[in-house]
Order: sequence, then C-alpha cells, then structure tokens
Amino acid sequence: MADLQKFTCVKDIYNLSQALQECIEIKKNPLATPDVGKGKTVGLIFLNPSLRTRISMQKACQNLGFNSIVINAGQDAWTWELEEGMVMNGVGVEHIKDAAKVLSEYCDVIAIRCFPYLKNREEDAQDRILNQFIKYASVPIISLESTTRHPLQSFADMLTIKENWLESRRPKVVLTWAPHIKPIAHSVANSFCEWIKEIDAEVVVACPEGYDLDPQYTQGLMITHKQAEALKGADFIYVKNWSSFHLYGATPEVDEDWQLTADKLRESPTAKIMHCLPVRRNVEIDDEVLDSENALIYKQAANRLVTAQWVLKNIV
Ligand code: CP
Repeated sequence: MADLQKFTCVKDIYNLSQALQECIEIKKNPLATPDVGKGKTVGLIFLNPSLRTRISMQKACQNLGFNSIVINAGQDAWTWELEEGMVMNGVGVEHIKDAAKVLSEYCDVIAIRCFPYLKNREEDAQDRILNQFIKYASVPIISLESTTRHPLQSFADMLTIKENWLESRRPKVVLTWAPHIKPIAHSVANSFCEWIKEIDAEVVVACPEGYDLDPQYTQGLMITHKQAEALKGADFIYVKNWSSFHLYGATPEVDEDWQLTADKLRESPTAKIMHCLPVRRNVEIDDEVLDSENALIYKQAANRLVTAQWVLKNIV
C-alpha cells in the first residue's frame, strides 16, 4: 500500500521529519530506484504556466521510470464545466468529472496546477478544480499548486532549510512580503506558513498593513507590519509577494519600501535568502542579494526535483 493517498498539503505526509531524511538519501543517489514507475503513467495537467514544477516533475518521472504526459489544459483541452447539474449550453464543453474519470483510465497518478482567479475569496477557498479531481478521479492526485497551496514548493523549501541549518539552536525564519507589479496568489505564502509550523523554528511573518494572510494559515505565528524589526537576527529570509486577502485580490498602495535590498541585511548579514522563483529582480529583491553567496534560490529549485521524486515514489 502506498504511503500517500494524495499530496495536496503538509497533512498528507505522515512524518515530515522522516520524509525529509528520505529526501536526503534520494538526493545522494537519484537513480537508485529506476523501476518504481515501470509501466505507469503520470498525467501532468497545467492550467497555468510553469518552469520548475513542470520540468522537475518530468525529470522525477524519468528518474523513477514513469512515463509522463503533459497536458496544457489551459490551451489544449476542452474548457471544463465545474458546476453540478448544469445544462451545458455555455462555454464549458466537457464536465470536469468526465475529464477526471477519463484521465484516470490513462494515468496511474494525476498531477494538476490550477491557480486562483483572485476575484471571489469564497470561490477560490473551495479549490474547486483540485477537489473535483480528488472526488472524481480513481487514481491519486498531486497538487502542482492550487488556488490555496503550493505543497511541492514548501516541501522543497523545508528540505533546503534543513540542509542549510546545522546549528543546535532553533533558526529564526522570516517570511517577508515584497512588492510586485500585479496581483499574486497567496498559495506559496499559505503553504510556507503551514509547513514551517512543522519545523522547530522561530517564525515571523512580515507584511504591510492590509496584506495580512488568511489567519487559518498564520494562526500561531508571530505577525508584524514592521519589516526592519522582523529582519533583525534572521537566519532565513523567505521573500514573496501576495495580494491582499482582506480586500481579496487587490493591491492596496504601500508607502514604505518593502523590496529586500542588500542594505536592509546589515543586521542579519548571514541570513540565507529564499524565494520560490520566478522572481522580479530589483522589484521584489535586488540583484546584489539574489546574486550573493547567501541566496539559496537555485538550491530550492534543485530540491524541487528531490521532493517531487519522494512524492511520486510514495504515492504509487
Ligand atoms: N516555483 C514554481 O512553482 O515555479 P514554476 O511556477 O515555474 O513552476
């Protein structure tokens, strides 16, 4: 019996500490189990763009002997109807339940990316596409980032923190908001908050007034609207933009400068800098920080492969 029934959030992993240790073993020899996926197919469905998630999943499939099929459902598939009981005389050509059941006939695992529209908070909170796939598919489902969470990213982030923290004291981890040019989803930040609670760390979430995340994710974490205070003595600084949760999807003006620049790191000179990528250089973080020795951004991206491999290995 597979360890994972689905992979959509941290609660789907039985023992994160053990899983991270197993990832370290996978990383030492990624080609150690080339037959795990023999004769099996993973369907990778993308309703939105991707570089890291797409390629790391394909490479993980390759390392484990799976066949992978990429479906760019935003362009190449019929438009899905999500409502039950509809007279389908509108834009939806195929009901999502039919698509999920049909894909289950071809695939042994289905992985799906479905971003939020950031228009209606209640609708996005339902994570309808992901949950309808979980409901109707007869094979395990992996989230490649949904409207609410990005579990594969957070899993890789936790591995990156573990690998880069060898001291016996608890690290101070700061999740700081950064500017962006357009409204961005909450999924990476929500997920990061959920996963970091499972790690022994002092955690601070820093964001401007009006940008507090959904409290269901930040509950139990320290929250501040003062970035400079939060950054003091930080061991890890995770930088991410997100739109307003309160004024859902809006981007209220922020007076202070929240870009992470080299001069803001004077009181945390050894802090490791993290970002899920893609990053808007010199908008979210300046070049000097991103290109510094303390930036872990490419290590995080490399760990996407390792954690993807762990998930696939444990889901079949
Ligand atoms: N971090 C991340 O998920 O990257 P992509 O959107 O390129 O997959």
